[in-house]
Amino acid sequence: MPFTAAIVGSGIALPAHAVTNEELSKTVDTSDEWITERTGIRQRYVAAEGQYTSDLAAEAARNAIADAGLESGDIDLIIVATATPDLTFPATAAIVQAKLGVKQGAAFDVNAVCTGFVYALSIAEKFLISGQNKTAVIIGAETFSRILDWEDRRTCVLFGDGAGAFVMTRKTVEEAGDRTIKASHLRCDGSMVDLLYTDGGVSTTGKAGHVKMEGNKVFREAVDRISGAMVETAKIADIALSEVDWFVPHQANQRIIGGVVRKLGIDGDKVVATIGQHGNTSAASIPLAFHTARDDGRIKKGDLIMIEGMGGGLTWGAALFRF
Ligand code: ACO
Repeated sequence: MPFTAAIVGSGIALPAHAVTNEELSKTVDTSDEWITERTGIRQRYVAAEGQYTSDLAAEAARNAIADAGLESGDIDLIIVATATPDLTFPATAAIVQAKLGVKQGAAFDVNAVCTGFVYALSIAEKFLISGQNKTAVIIGAETFSRILDWEDRRTCVLFGDGAGAFVMTRKTVEEAGDRTIKASHLRCDGSMVDLLYTDGGVSTTGKAGHVKMEGNKVFREAVDRISGAMVETAKIADIALSEVDWFVPHQANQRIIGGVVRKLGIDGDKVVATIGQHGNTSAASIPLAFHTARDDGRIKKGDLIMIEGMGGGLTWGAALFRF
């Protein structure tokens, strides 16, 4: 019996504390005007002391599982996309599994930085289609505030903390009808590691390090690569981009989002942008944006959704599904 994979729930978690640009400009040499004009960011959330990536991930997962009308005991696959794990090992997914009280199935992390959620969705789809697993929760969760150099205005104003999750279930082709994952396209070019990285790690310095980014070089790469992945994904699914109801991009910079809209000639009103309220939450940004647009009534069941992103690696990619 051929299987397919469907998205049946979503949920998010944000720390309680939002830091506005105004607040940040009291401790760093920056201004609300600079940050808003260059990025579109107005505030970002910062995790409380003792609040870890796994805490945000587990809360988002619980909300997504409840939204799907399921229980933790139904979950047999947990994938956490993160570049800011609680520990070097075990995987944050294992810690989340314990926090959810799940005793069955598999759990592991994926690190594709800001493209992590697109990677996680594509991987989960394969596990479900193969018949190996029945119900997956995929989570993008980050505490980037822990790897920022808070004295480096070029990076610390950009990122925030948060988590978002999807529940995905295996369905027969007949059960799912049109509401399936249609296509995904994942890429990496490791020759550009130097554009966006942390200056530390387990095997090099023994410390996590801080985010280093050649912002304008990353910016120049972003529009072409993201647009290319979107076009390729639409081609695989044999649809026109004009058929997509909502584009949910990784929220790195409002100007990158605008550049993609112009390059592809897509309708800007169909693009979900939450960068103003969340900042760049890396792997968490796509599910955070998706769920926010569901919550405010924009995204509805049955809509055709394209997600896309680019991040450290460089990695980039896109996926298409009918919700
Ligand atoms: N406040 C005030 N001034 C600033 C700030 C700040 N927060 N940051 C930088 N500046 C200054 C710089 O010092 C520089 O001044 P100078 O000309 O006197 O030297 C000037 O502003 C311009 O700096 P640029 O870096 O050239 O600014 P740019 O217009 O490129 O904007 C930004 C920077 C917002 C980072 C942009 O390049 C960008 O968004 N890049 C892409 C980011 C991205 O997509 N990342 C990928 C995902 S993240 C991930 O994977 C983890």
